[in-house]
Amino acid sequence: MAHLVPTVENLAELSSLDQAHHLHPFTSIAAHAADGPMVMIEGKGTHVTDHRGRSYLDAFAGLWCMNVGYGREEIADAMAAQAKKLPYYHSFLAMANEPSIRLAERLVQITPKSLSKVFFGLTGSDGNDTLIKIIWYYNNLLGRPKKKKIIARKLAYHGVTVASGSLSGLPNLHGGFDLPVDRFLHVTTPHYYRQAPAGMTEREFSAHLAQELESVILREGPDTIAAFFAEPVMGAGGVYVPPEGYFEAIVPILRRYDILFAADEVICGFGRLGRWFGSDYFHLEPDLMTGAKGLTSGYAPLSMSLISQPIWKVLHEGSPTMGPFGHGFTYSAHPVSAAAAMANLDIIEREKLVDRVARLAPILQTKLRETLADHPLVGEVRGVGFVAAMELVADKKAKAPFDLKLGVAMRAYKKVLARGVIVRPIMNNLAVSPPFVITEQEIDEVVSALKESIDETARELAAEGIWKPS
Ligand SMILES: Cc1ncc(COP(=O)(O)O)c(C=O)c1O
Repeated sequence: MAHLVPTVENLAELSSLDQAHHLHPFTSIAAHAADGPMVMIEGKGTHVTDHRGRSYLDAFAGLWCMNVGYGREEIADAMAAQAKKLPYYHSFLAMANEPSIRLAERLVQITPKSLSKVFFGLTGSDGNDTLIKIIWYYNNLLGRPKKKKIIARKLAYHGVTVASGSLSGLPNLHGGFDLPVDRFLHVTTPHYYRQAPAGMTEREFSAHLAQELESVILREGPDTIAAFFAEPVMGAGGVYVPPEGYFEAIVPILRRYDILFAADEVICGFGRLGRWFGSDYFHLEPDLMTGAKGLTSGYAPLSMSLISQPIWKVLHEGSPTMGPFGHGFTYSAHPVSAAAAMANLDIIEREKLVDRVARLAPILQTKLRETLADHPLVGEVRGVGFVAAMELVADKKAKAPFDLKLGVAMRAYKKVLARGVIVRPIMNNLAVSPPFVITEQEIDEVVSALKESIDETARELAAEGIWKPS
Protein backbone atom coordinates (compact mmCIF):
# COMPACT_ATOMS: atom_id res chain seq x y z
CA MET A 1 0.00 0.00 0.00
CA ALA A 2 1.22 3.51 -0.85
CA HIS A 3 2.50 5.65 2.00
CA LEU A 4 -0.41 7.72 3.24
CA VAL A 5 -0.02 11.45 3.51
CA PRO A 6 -3.37 12.53 4.92
CA THR A 7 -5.07 14.95 2.54
CA VAL A 8 -8.69 15.70 1.90
CA GLU A 9 -8.56 13.13 -0.92
CA ASN A 10 -7.38 10.19 1.14
CA LEU A 11 -9.30 11.14 4.28
CA ALA A 12 -12.11 8.73 3.48
CA GLU A 13 -9.61 5.91 3.19
CA LEU A 14 -7.81 6.86 6.40
CA SER A 15 -11.08 7.15 8.27
CA SER A 16 -12.30 3.78 7.17
CA LEU A 17 -8.94 2.13 7.98
CA ASP A 18 -9.08 3.66 11.45
CA GLN A 19 -12.68 2.54 11.92
CA ALA A 20 -11.78 -0.96 10.75
CA HIS A 21 -8.73 -1.51 12.95
CA HIS A 22 -8.35 0.85 15.86
CA LEU A 23 -9.99 0.58 19.30
CA HIS A 24 -9.66 4.16 20.59
CA PRO A 25 -9.19 4.98 24.27
CA PHE A 26 -12.01 6.89 26.00
CA THR A 27 -14.07 7.04 22.80
CA SER A 28 -17.65 6.04 22.16
CA ILE A 29 -17.23 2.87 20.07
CA ALA A 30 -20.61 3.48 18.45
CA ALA A 31 -19.86 7.15 17.63
CA HIS A 32 -16.45 6.28 16.15
CA ALA A 33 -18.00 3.52 14.06
CA ALA A 34 -20.55 6.03 12.74
CA ASP A 35 -18.48 9.24 12.41
CA GLY A 36 -14.83 8.18 12.12
CA PRO A 37 -11.81 9.90 13.65
CA MET A 38 -10.40 13.42 13.56
CA VAL A 39 -6.87 13.07 12.18
CA MET A 40 -4.22 15.47 13.45
CA ILE A 41 -1.33 16.17 11.11
CA GLU A 42 1.02 18.65 12.74
CA GLY A 43 1.53 21.04 15.62
CA LYS A 44 3.42 24.27 16.23
CA GLY A 45 3.42 26.27 19.44
CA THR A 46 -0.11 26.32 20.82
CA HIS A 47 -1.73 25.09 17.59
CA VAL A 48 -2.46 21.77 15.90
CA THR A 49 -3.63 21.24 12.33
CA ASP A 50 -6.08 18.57 11.24
CA HIS A 51 -6.53 16.64 8.00
CA ARG A 52 -8.56 19.46 6.47
CA GLY A 53 -5.76 21.93 7.05
CA ARG A 54 -7.79 23.53 9.84
CA SER A 55 -5.77 25.00 12.66
CA TYR A 56 -6.92 24.75 16.29
CA LEU A 57 -5.75 26.57 19.38
CA ASP A 58 -5.15 23.62 21.71
CA ALA A 59 -6.37 24.96 25.04
CA PHE A 60 -6.04 21.47 26.52
CA ALA A 61 -2.33 20.93 25.72
CA GLY A 62 -3.09 17.53 24.17
CA LEU A 63 -4.10 15.74 27.35
CA TRP A 64 -2.85 18.24 29.96
CA CYS A 65 0.71 17.55 28.82
CA MET A 66 1.99 19.61 25.85
CA ASN A 67 3.32 22.20 28.28
CA VAL A 68 6.22 23.68 26.31
CA GLY A 69 4.18 23.71 23.08
CA TYR A 70 4.35 21.72 19.84
CA GLY A 71 7.23 21.73 17.41
CA ARG A 72 10.18 22.15 19.78
CA GLU A 73 13.12 21.15 17.59
CA GLU A 74 15.41 21.17 20.60
CA ILE A 75 13.53 18.22 22.10
CA ALA A 76 13.25 16.41 18.77
CA ASP A 77 17.00 16.91 18.19
CA ALA A 78 17.90 15.62 21.67
CA MET A 79 15.77 12.52 21.05
CA ALA A 80 17.27 11.97 17.60
CA ALA A 81 20.83 12.37 18.89
CA GLN A 82 20.18 9.87 21.67
CA ALA A 83 18.44 7.46 19.29
CA LYS A 84 21.49 7.56 17.01
CA LYS A 85 23.96 7.08 19.85
CA LEU A 86 22.15 4.52 22.02
CA PRO A 87 18.47 4.08 21.13
CA TYR A 88 17.85 1.62 23.90
CA TYR A 89 19.33 -0.25 26.70
CA HIS A 90 17.50 -1.75 29.66
CA SER A 91 18.03 -0.87 33.30
CA PHE A 92 17.63 -4.35 34.84
CA LEU A 93 20.63 -5.92 36.64
CA ALA A 94 22.09 -2.48 37.44
CA MET A 95 22.45 -1.48 33.77
CA ALA A 96 22.25 2.28 33.27
CA ASN A 97 22.43 5.00 30.65
CA GLU A 98 23.62 8.57 30.96
CA PRO A 99 20.42 10.54 30.24
CA SER A 100 18.42 8.64 32.85
CA ILE A 101 21.21 8.91 35.46
CA ARG A 102 21.33 12.68 34.94
CA LEU A 103 17.54 12.93 34.90
CA ALA A 104 17.15 10.98 38.17
CA GLU A 105 19.56 13.36 39.89
CA ARG A 106 17.76 16.39 38.47
CA LEU A 107 14.33 15.13 39.52
CA VAL A 108 15.42 14.46 43.09
CA GLN A 109 16.79 18.03 43.16
CA ILE A 110 13.59 19.72 41.93
CA THR A 111 10.93 17.64 43.72
CA PRO A 112 10.07 18.20 47.41
CA LYS A 113 12.97 17.42 49.71
CA SER A 114 11.04 14.57 51.34
CA LEU A 115 11.75 12.48 48.20
CA SER A 116 15.05 10.80 47.54
CA LYS A 117 14.88 8.06 44.87
CA VAL A 118 13.12 7.73 41.54
CA PHE A 119 11.88 4.75 39.52
CA PHE A 120 11.09 5.26 35.82
CA GLY A 121 8.11 3.88 33.92
CA LEU A 122 6.15 5.06 30.91
CA THR A 123 2.70 6.30 31.92
CA GLY A 124 0.96 7.90 34.86
CA SER A 125 -0.98 4.68 35.36
CA ASP A 126 2.12 2.52 35.68
CA GLY A 127 3.72 5.19 37.87
CA ASN A 128 0.88 4.81 40.37
CA ASP A 129 0.96 1.01 40.10
CA THR A 130 4.65 1.12 40.95
CA LEU A 131 3.94 3.21 44.05
CA ILE A 132 1.13 0.89 45.15
CA LYS A 133 3.41 -2.14 44.79
CA ILE A 134 6.23 -0.39 46.65
CA ILE A 135 3.79 0.47 49.48
CA TRP A 136 2.72 -3.17 49.79
CA TYR A 137 6.32 -4.38 49.58
CA TYR A 138 7.37 -1.85 52.24
CA ASN A 139 4.68 -3.03 54.66
CA ASN A 140 5.59 -6.66 54.06
CA LEU A 141 9.22 -5.86 54.85
CA LEU A 142 8.10 -4.09 58.02
CA GLY A 143 6.17 -7.21 59.07
CA ARG A 144 2.79 -5.51 58.69
CA PRO A 145 1.04 -7.87 56.23
CA LYS A 146 -2.42 -6.47 57.05
CA LYS A 147 -1.53 -2.82 56.35
CA LYS A 148 -2.43 -2.83 52.63
CA LYS A 149 -5.62 -0.85 51.99
CA ILE A 150 -5.36 2.36 50.02
CA ILE A 151 -7.66 5.37 50.29
CA ALA A 152 -8.33 7.72 47.38
CA ARG A 153 -11.13 10.17 46.61
CA LYS A 154 -14.33 9.76 44.58
CA LEU A 155 -13.85 11.29 41.10
CA ALA A 156 -10.06 10.93 41.42
CA TYR A 157 -8.22 10.00 38.24
CA HIS A 158 -5.06 8.00 38.83
CA GLY A 159 -5.02 5.88 35.68
CA VAL A 160 -6.69 2.85 34.17
CA THR A 161 -4.66 -0.28 34.91
CA VAL A 162 -6.15 -2.80 37.34
CA ALA A 163 -4.49 -1.13 40.34
CA SER A 164 -4.47 2.53 39.25
CA GLY A 165 -7.98 2.12 37.81
CA SER A 166 -9.09 0.80 41.22
CA LEU A 167 -7.43 3.80 42.82
CA SER A 168 -9.35 6.11 40.47
CA GLY A 169 -12.79 7.03 41.75
CA LEU A 170 -14.71 7.33 38.50
CA PRO A 171 -17.71 5.12 37.78
CA ASN A 172 -16.99 4.79 34.04
CA LEU A 173 -13.52 3.42 34.80
CA HIS A 174 -15.06 0.77 37.04
CA GLY A 175 -18.38 -0.28 35.50
CA GLY A 176 -18.03 -3.29 33.23
CA PHE A 177 -14.37 -3.82 34.17
CA ASP A 178 -14.94 -5.46 37.58
CA LEU A 179 -13.09 -2.63 39.30
CA PRO A 180 -12.23 -1.56 41.90
CA VAL A 181 -10.56 -4.71 43.19
CA ASP A 182 -10.53 -5.03 46.98
CA ARG A 183 -8.06 -3.04 49.12
CA PHE A 184 -9.20 0.31 47.56
CA LEU A 185 -11.51 2.74 49.38
CA HIS A 186 -12.87 6.11 48.23
CA VAL A 187 -13.79 9.09 50.37
CA THR A 188 -15.72 12.24 49.45
CA THR A 189 -14.45 14.50 46.65
CA PRO A 190 -13.12 17.74 48.15
CA HIS A 191 -15.46 19.83 46.01
CA TYR A 192 -17.01 22.61 48.06
CA TYR A 193 -19.69 23.62 45.51
CA ARG A 194 -21.21 20.13 45.25
CA GLN A 195 -20.23 18.27 48.40
CA ALA A 196 -20.20 20.76 51.29
CA PRO A 197 -23.23 20.48 53.57
CA ALA A 198 -25.31 23.70 53.49
CA GLY A 199 -23.97 26.56 55.59
CA MET A 200 -20.43 25.22 56.01
CA THR A 201 -17.44 27.46 55.28
CA GLU A 202 -14.59 26.01 53.21
CA ARG A 203 -12.51 25.49 56.36
CA GLU A 204 -15.40 23.74 58.10
CA PHE A 205 -15.84 21.54 55.03
CA SER A 206 -12.13 20.62 55.18
CA ALA A 207 -12.51 19.66 58.85
CA HIS A 208 -15.60 17.64 57.93
CA LEU A 209 -13.66 15.76 55.22
CA ALA A 210 -10.83 15.11 57.68
CA GLN A 211 -13.34 13.67 60.14
CA GLU A 212 -14.76 11.44 57.42
CA LEU A 213 -11.25 10.21 56.59
CA GLU A 214 -10.55 9.48 60.22
CA SER A 215 -13.80 7.60 60.68
CA VAL A 216 -13.03 5.43 57.61
CA ILE A 217 -9.57 4.70 59.05
CA LEU A 218 -11.05 3.77 62.45
CA ARG A 219 -13.83 1.70 60.88
CA GLU A 220 -11.38 -0.32 58.78
CA GLY A 221 -8.70 -0.41 61.48
CA PRO A 222 -5.58 1.79 61.19
CA ASP A 223 -3.41 -1.32 60.99
CA THR A 224 -5.11 -2.15 57.65
CA ILE A 225 -4.65 1.25 55.95
CA ALA A 226 -1.36 1.70 54.11
CA ALA A 227 -1.66 4.93 52.13
CA PHE A 228 -3.73 7.87 50.94
CA PHE A 229 -3.39 9.08 47.33
CA ALA A 230 -4.30 12.57 46.18
CA GLU A 231 -3.91 14.72 43.10
CA PRO A 232 -3.07 18.16 44.60
CA VAL A 233 -5.74 19.60 42.27
CA MET A 234 -7.98 16.88 40.87
CA GLY A 235 -8.00 16.91 37.08
CA ALA A 236 -9.65 14.37 34.82
CA GLY A 237 -12.59 13.79 37.18
CA GLY A 238 -13.70 17.38 36.56
CA VAL A 239 -11.07 19.78 38.05
CA TYR A 240 -11.53 20.21 41.79
CA VAL A 241 -9.37 22.59 43.79
CA PRO A 242 -9.46 21.47 47.43
CA PRO A 243 -11.23 23.74 49.92
CA GLU A 244 -9.18 26.06 52.10
CA GLY A 245 -7.25 24.17 54.75
CA TYR A 246 -7.89 20.75 53.20
CA PHE A 247 -4.39 19.29 53.22
CA GLU A 248 -3.61 20.91 56.60
CA ALA A 249 -6.57 18.97 57.99
CA ILE A 250 -5.89 15.67 56.18
CA VAL A 251 -2.14 15.20 56.56
CA PRO A 252 -1.99 15.14 60.41
CA ILE A 253 -4.57 12.35 60.41
CA LEU A 254 -2.43 10.30 58.04
CA ARG A 255 0.60 10.91 60.26
CA ARG A 256 -1.38 9.95 63.38
CA TYR A 257 -2.14 6.49 61.98
CA ASP A 258 1.19 5.92 60.21
CA ILE A 259 -0.43 6.11 56.77
CA LEU A 260 1.74 7.09 53.80
CA PHE A 261 0.82 10.12 51.72
CA ALA A 262 1.24 9.81 47.94
CA ALA A 263 0.90 12.88 45.71
CA ASP A 264 -0.18 12.15 42.15
CA GLU A 265 1.46 15.02 40.26
CA VAL A 266 0.77 13.65 36.78
CA ILE A 267 -1.16 16.84 35.86
CA CYS A 268 0.02 19.34 38.49
CA GLY A 269 3.72 18.50 38.25
CA PHE A 270 6.26 20.53 36.26
CA GLY A 271 4.56 23.89 36.49
CA ARG A 272 0.84 23.66 35.79
CA LEU A 273 -0.13 25.43 39.02
CA GLY A 274 2.54 28.12 38.62
CA ARG A 275 4.89 26.28 41.00
CA TRP A 276 7.13 23.38 40.05
CA PHE A 277 4.83 20.89 41.77
CA GLY A 278 1.33 20.92 43.23
CA SER A 279 3.03 19.78 46.43
CA ASP A 280 4.97 23.09 46.46
CA TYR A 281 1.76 25.01 45.85
CA PHE A 282 0.05 23.34 48.86
CA HIS A 283 3.24 23.06 51.00
CA LEU A 284 3.14 19.25 51.04
CA GLU A 285 5.97 16.87 51.79
CA PRO A 286 4.67 13.63 50.36
CA ASP A 287 6.18 10.22 51.13
CA LEU A 288 5.69 9.18 47.52
CA MET A 289 5.03 11.04 44.27
CA THR A 290 4.06 10.17 40.69
CA GLY A 291 4.69 12.32 37.64
CA ALA A 292 4.40 11.80 33.88
CA LYS A 293 2.84 14.11 31.24
CA GLY A 294 4.74 17.38 31.85
CA LEU A 295 7.99 15.49 32.50
CA THR A 296 8.52 15.29 28.73
CA SER A 297 5.64 17.62 27.70
CA GLY A 298 4.27 14.59 25.87
CA TYR A 299 7.24 14.31 23.47
CA ALA A 300 8.00 10.78 24.70
CA PRO A 301 6.37 8.36 27.15
CA LEU A 302 7.96 8.59 30.59
CA SER A 303 6.77 8.41 34.18
CA MET A 304 8.51 8.86 37.49
CA SER A 305 7.65 7.27 40.84
CA LEU A 306 9.53 8.87 43.71
CA ILE A 307 9.91 7.58 47.26
CA SER A 308 11.16 9.06 50.52
CA GLN A 309 14.43 8.19 52.21
CA PRO A 310 12.69 6.27 55.06
CA ILE A 311 10.89 4.07 52.51
CA TRP A 312 14.14 3.62 50.60
CA LYS A 313 15.87 2.60 53.83
CA VAL A 314 13.33 -0.18 54.45
CA LEU A 315 13.74 -1.44 50.87
CA HIS A 316 17.51 -1.28 51.18
CA GLU A 317 17.58 -3.17 54.46
CA GLY A 318 15.15 -5.77 53.09
CA SER A 319 17.23 -6.33 49.98
CA PRO A 320 19.32 -9.27 51.26
CA THR A 321 16.21 -11.21 52.28
CA MET A 322 13.97 -10.27 49.34
CA GLY A 323 16.53 -10.69 46.58
CA PRO A 324 16.46 -8.39 43.53
CA PHE A 325 13.63 -5.84 43.47
CA GLY A 326 11.08 -7.79 41.41
CA HIS A 327 9.53 -4.96 39.45
CA GLY A 328 10.41 -3.06 36.26
CA PHE A 329 9.58 -2.58 32.61
CA THR A 330 11.51 -3.30 29.44
CA TYR A 331 11.41 0.43 28.79
CA SER A 332 12.12 1.67 32.34
CA ALA A 333 14.63 4.54 32.16
CA HIS A 334 14.41 4.59 28.35
CA PRO A 335 17.32 6.75 27.15
CA VAL A 336 15.37 8.49 24.37
CA SER A 337 12.55 9.44 26.77
CA ALA A 338 15.09 10.60 29.36
CA ALA A 339 16.81 12.76 26.71
CA ALA A 340 13.40 14.27 25.83
CA ALA A 341 12.78 15.01 29.53
CA MET A 342 16.18 16.67 29.96
CA ALA A 343 15.60 18.93 26.93
CA ASN A 344 12.05 19.70 28.10
CA LEU A 345 13.27 20.67 31.59
CA ASP A 346 15.99 22.82 30.00
CA ILE A 347 13.30 24.74 28.09
CA ILE A 348 11.06 25.14 31.16
CA GLU A 349 13.99 26.51 33.15
CA ARG A 350 15.54 28.70 30.45
CA GLU A 351 12.24 30.26 29.38
CA LYS A 352 11.04 30.54 32.99
CA LEU A 353 7.78 28.87 32.03
CA VAL A 354 6.74 28.12 35.61
CA ASP A 355 6.90 31.86 36.38
CA ARG A 356 5.04 32.53 33.17
CA VAL A 357 2.18 30.28 34.33
CA ALA A 358 2.18 32.06 37.70
CA ARG A 359 1.95 35.42 35.91
CA LEU A 360 -0.71 34.50 33.33
CA ALA A 361 -2.85 32.19 35.51
CA PRO A 362 -4.66 35.02 37.33
CA ILE A 363 -5.49 36.50 33.90
CA LEU A 364 -6.91 33.20 32.64
CA GLN A 365 -8.80 32.49 35.86
CA THR A 366 -10.19 36.03 36.19
CA LYS A 367 -11.30 36.26 32.56
CA LEU A 368 -13.08 32.90 32.78
CA ARG A 369 -14.91 33.98 35.94
CA GLU A 370 -15.75 37.50 34.72
CA THR A 371 -17.10 36.14 31.45
CA LEU A 372 -18.82 32.95 32.54
CA ALA A 373 -19.51 32.77 36.29
CA ASP A 374 -22.83 34.63 35.95
CA HIS A 375 -23.93 32.75 32.85
CA PRO A 376 -27.28 31.06 33.51
CA LEU A 377 -26.02 27.74 32.10
CA VAL A 378 -22.84 27.77 34.23
CA GLY A 379 -23.06 26.60 37.84
CA GLU A 380 -19.44 27.12 38.77
CA VAL A 381 -16.16 28.26 37.25
CA ARG A 382 -13.26 26.75 39.18
CA GLY A 383 -9.54 26.21 38.86
CA VAL A 384 -6.12 27.51 39.74
CA GLY A 385 -2.93 27.98 37.74
CA PHE A 386 -3.37 26.76 34.18
CA VAL A 387 -6.20 24.35 34.90
CA ALA A 388 -9.87 25.30 35.03
CA ALA A 389 -13.38 23.98 34.45
CA MET A 390 -16.85 25.33 33.93
CA GLU A 391 -19.69 23.18 35.19
CA LEU A 392 -22.86 23.38 33.10
CA VAL A 393 -26.02 23.00 35.19
CA ALA A 394 -29.69 22.28 34.56
CA ASP A 395 -30.73 24.72 37.29
CA LYS A 396 -28.26 27.35 38.45
CA LYS A 397 -30.16 28.32 41.63
CA ALA A 398 -30.77 24.75 42.75
CA LYS A 399 -27.31 23.62 41.46
CA ALA A 400 -29.17 20.76 39.73
CA PRO A 401 -26.89 18.78 37.41
CA PHE A 402 -27.85 17.76 33.89
CA ASP A 403 -28.61 14.10 33.26
CA LEU A 404 -25.27 12.93 31.80
CA LYS A 405 -27.16 11.10 29.04
CA LEU A 406 -28.03 14.49 27.54
CA GLY A 407 -24.36 15.02 26.69
CA VAL A 408 -24.62 18.78 27.26
CA ALA A 409 -20.88 19.35 27.75
CA MET A 410 -20.12 17.29 24.63
CA ARG A 411 -22.54 19.48 22.68
CA ALA A 412 -20.84 22.66 23.92
CA TYR A 413 -17.38 21.16 23.29
CA LYS A 414 -18.24 20.58 19.61
CA LYS A 415 -19.26 24.22 19.29
CA VAL A 416 -15.96 25.35 20.81
CA LEU A 417 -14.15 23.04 18.38
CA ALA A 418 -16.07 24.54 15.46
CA ARG A 419 -14.65 27.92 16.57
CA GLY A 420 -11.11 26.56 16.26
CA VAL A 421 -10.40 25.96 19.95
CA ILE A 422 -9.88 22.62 21.70
CA VAL A 423 -11.14 22.21 25.27
CA ARG A 424 -12.26 18.98 26.96
CA PRO A 425 -15.74 17.80 27.94
CA ILE A 426 -15.69 15.94 31.28
CA MET A 427 -19.14 14.78 32.36
CA ASN A 428 -21.04 18.12 32.69
CA ASN A 429 -17.87 20.22 32.64
CA LEU A 430 -15.75 21.93 30.03
CA ALA A 431 -12.11 21.91 31.10
CA VAL A 432 -9.14 23.94 29.92
CA SER A 433 -5.47 23.26 30.56
CA PRO A 434 -3.45 25.27 28.03
CA PRO A 435 0.20 24.97 27.02
CA PHE A 436 2.43 27.20 29.15
CA VAL A 437 3.37 29.24 26.07
CA ILE A 438 -0.19 30.49 25.47
CA THR A 439 -0.33 34.29 25.06
CA GLU A 440 -2.77 36.74 26.63
CA GLN A 441 -4.38 37.27 23.25
CA GLU A 442 -4.87 33.51 22.88
CA ILE A 443 -6.38 33.36 26.37
CA ASP A 444 -8.93 35.92 25.11
CA GLU A 445 -9.64 33.71 22.08
CA VAL A 446 -10.28 30.71 24.34
CA VAL A 447 -12.59 32.67 26.64
CA SER A 448 -14.56 34.15 23.69
CA ALA A 449 -14.95 30.75 22.04
CA LEU A 450 -16.24 29.33 25.33
CA LYS A 451 -18.65 32.22 25.86
CA GLU A 452 -20.08 32.08 22.34
CA SER A 453 -20.38 28.29 22.46
CA ILE A 454 -22.05 28.22 25.86
CA ASP A 455 -24.46 30.96 24.69
CA GLU A 456 -25.29 28.95 21.59
CA THR A 457 -25.74 25.76 23.63
CA ALA A 458 -28.08 27.60 26.02
CA ARG A 459 -30.18 28.89 23.11
CA GLU A 460 -30.44 25.41 21.59
CA LEU A 461 -31.30 23.70 24.86
CA ALA A 462 -33.96 26.34 25.57
CA ALA A 463 -35.43 25.94 22.07
CA GLU A 464 -35.56 22.17 22.56
CA GLY A 465 -37.29 22.60 25.92
CA ILE A 466 -34.44 20.80 27.73
CA TRP A 467 -33.41 23.79 29.81
CA LYS A 468 -34.53 27.24 30.88
CA PRO A 469 -32.68 29.92 32.84
CA SER A 470 -33.42 29.79 36.58
C1 LIG B 1 -3.56 12.70 37.87
C2 LIG B 1 -3.37 11.60 36.87
N1 LIG B 1 -2.79 10.46 37.27
C3 LIG B 1 -2.56 9.45 36.42
C4 LIG B 1 -2.95 9.55 35.10
C5 LIG B 1 -2.73 8.41 34.18
O1 LIG B 1 -1.76 8.73 33.25
P1 LIG B 1 -1.59 7.87 31.91
O2 LIG B 1 -2.78 8.22 31.04
O3 LIG B 1 -0.29 8.35 31.35
O4 LIG B 1 -1.58 6.44 32.30
C6 LIG B 1 -3.56 10.73 34.64
C7 LIG B 1 -3.98 10.86 33.24
O5 LIG B 1 -4.66 11.77 32.85
C8 LIG B 1 -3.78 11.76 35.55
O6 LIG B 1 -4.39 12.89 35.16
